Amino acid sequence: MYCPEIETEEKDLYWLFRFMVDVKYQKQGIGRAALELALGEISKNNCRKINIIYSPKNSVAAKLYETFGFQQVGIAEDGDIIVQKRVNNMTTA
Ligand SMILES: CC(C)(COP(=O)(O)OP(=O)(O)OC[C@H]1O[C@@H](n2cnc3c(N)ncnc32)[C@H](O)[C@@H]1OP(=O)(O)O)[C@@H](O)C(=O)NCCC(=O)NCCS
Repeated sequence: MYCPEIETEEKDLYWLFRFMVDVKYQKQGIGRAALELALGEISKNNCRKINIIYSPKNSVAAKLYETFGFQQVGIAEDGDIIVQKRVNNMTTA
């Protein structure tokens, strides 16, 4: 699930939420492949930055997102980690 930022003026910011793979199919490369596809799909929009939010207890997600170049940019009110990746989007000025 993804959507553009709506609460601030950052119109080129998108959020990816609820990224998950059924537990029966985890650790088979699906998450990594799906994330690559999802980032490509999101990047087709007027998008220069993609944010993801995850629990600080989630070391699997932390490592996965880090390997895709996501870097921490904040902490949510509930303590969850916000990471961001900048994307090159040829469709934006
Ligand atoms: C995070 C998640 C989407 C990864 O999906 P996946 O299909 O297992 O991912 P992959 O098989 O492509 O593995 C990605 C990397 O995570 C590692 N990994 C996956 N599950 C792991 C586990 N339980 N323990 C340790 N490492 C794990 C893999 O070894 C792989 O590392 P590598 O690329 O360095 O070899 C999946 O674990 C998940 O759905 N978790 C529950 C929901 C969630 O936490 N979503 C993210 C929060 S927004």
